[in-house]
Amino acid sequence: MSNLIATVLLAVSALAALYLYTNNKSQNAFQKPLLKLPLISDLHSSPIEKPLINWSAWSKQHGPITVPKLFGIVPIVVLNSYEAVTELFSRRSQWYSNRPTSVSMEMITGAAPGCSRFTLMHDYDDHLKLHHRILSPSLGAPAAAKFQPLMELEAKQLLFDLATTLRKSTDGSTITTKTIYPLLERTQSSVILALHYGLRIPKFEEPLLHEVIAIQAKVTHLAANPQLPDLVPFLRYLPAFISPWQKYADKLYASQVDLYMRLFRHGKGAPGWNATKQAITTASKHAPVDSPVSDLDLAFTLATSIQGGMETSPRQLLWLFVAAMESPVVLTRAHEVLDQFVGRERLPRFSDRNNLVYVDAVAHELFRWRPISPGSIPRRADRTDEFDGVKIAKGVTIMANAWAIGRDEVVFDASLGDAQDFVPERWLRNGKLRGDLPLPVFGQGRRICQGKRVATDGTFMNIAHLLWAFDVEALEGEEVDPWEMRVVGFMTEPKPFKFRLKPRGKWVLDVVSKEWDSTEKGLEEVMGISHDVEK
Ligand code: HEM
Repeated sequence: MSNLIATVLLAVSALAALYLYTNNKSQNAFQKPLLKLPLISDLHSSPIEKPLINWSAWSKQHGPITVPKLFGIVPIVVLNSYEAVTELFSRRSQWYSNRPTSVSMEMITGAAPGCSRFTLMHDYDDHLKLHHRILSPSLGAPAAAKFQPLMELEAKQLLFDLATTLRKSTDGSTITTKTIYPLLERTQSSVILALHYGLRIPKFEEPLLHEVIAIQAKVTHLAANPQLPDLVPFLRYLPAFISPWQKYADKLYASQVDLYMRLFRHGKGAPGWNATKQAITTASKHAPVDSPVSDLDLAFTLATSIQGGMETSPRQLLWLFVAAMESPVVLTRAHEVLDQFVGRERLPRFSDRNNLVYVDAVAHELFRWRPISPGSIPRRADRTDEFDGVKIAKGVTIMANAWAIGRDEVVFDASLGDAQDFVPERWLRNGKLRGDLPLPVFGQGRRICQGKRVATDGTFMNIAHLLWAFDVEALEGEEVDPWEMRVVGFMTEPKPFKFRLKPRGKWVLDVVSKEWDSTEKGLEEVMGISHDVEK
């Protein structure tokens, strides 16, 4: 039974339920039971296009920990407070660091139970610890000096691409989120693929990028939609000729192996430093002598970052435009700071960051205000436990409610701003960015997001560029409702909208094209040479 619960719940963080809820609205038979979903109790009375409007009230009503029953049958533990998640995921982490079993995620990576080749889904054991260790010199603080110049380059191209797109609009400023999204996606994909494989993506039309996106879409679809073997695990052992799931899994595995190994070989042969070369060196240093890490294993580990890193940041950035329209005073303040410390003759750089604390606070507030994965990635309880008088059954799926934790008034002082409002000032103290507040969207404890540094640095740099360049204004008659959102896989993004992205002056376009023309685009010059691999 516990296995059944775990497998069913792989896909069912609250968001996956919402995914089904919002994506099956035309299928009445499917919709009905979901409307009764006890997990979201009053949430079912939220309008479909505003799935999180009742979420905060629900979390408050149920307290720091609650055990609703999904579909009225399957218990799931939801943590609604920072104290609850810190106690369970950090202090008691030895029992809460595995993911719920996902047979599909194992089948599509040709792996045995508990051993998905995706870092995200592997059990927390020595193998996973080694793989965290392999990733850290490329994604953590030691690599910042290499990936930050890359982020500056890609943010410059983002502005250049936006300026080119805006020139084609009739008034030079009207744009839709549908037009912007591919530009944001190119920016982040290029950061991720260049960092991992020494492979820049200069155009959104690049066929390789679309190959990556197509495979990723298939993997995400499976993660969000449990298949029969997820419910009846022994089906994984059926031979392919009688199992449609195995046939599909084998095909998807083969196309992933082909893609990830091609990327891996590119990284290995590319000039300059990249995460593939770093991973090979780190793995050979730390792997047990009698059990070296195979190239295939490394290739999947590196590819986990594609999944974690490519789609998330662009979706998070879409919310910036909503926040800017919702709180125009934030835009004014950011413009003042950028004018004072960067000026109007060049673009922002990481070396400005100490002076751009307010812009960093905007980035942090964005992650808090609209966490793109409000239900986080679920964990599994590995022992029978108790917290705050609530019993946690062994094997149950447990999720951190990032939406509620970012609104926990014990941590985020309401006197600094209502938790539902976008208030960057809550991240500031004595002119510095507060380091004592959590960013729940990245998770916590041993399974915390390995790419948090890459995500926060990149988001800071893109926001600094976008706010330096533009005013953000609503179009008359097209006011944007900040509660309207769409659920995509495990993520939320604003409902598509049209608005005005107005260059702050002619100087913007002049500086952008001057800097873009003169900037160094060769990765060896940008990220450093092969010898920079940390031994
Ligand atoms: C806005 C951007 C991002 C968000 C919101 C995000 C969110 C998350 C979350 C919620 C988890 C699970 C944490 C937990 O269970 O406590 C996770 C895991 C992970 N993320 Fe991210 N992520 C982002 C960007 C990135 C980037 C840029 C990379 C890589 C370059 C990355 C790589 C990973 C990896 C490898 C894991 C697996 C860790 C494990 O299970 O042991 N993520 N991420």
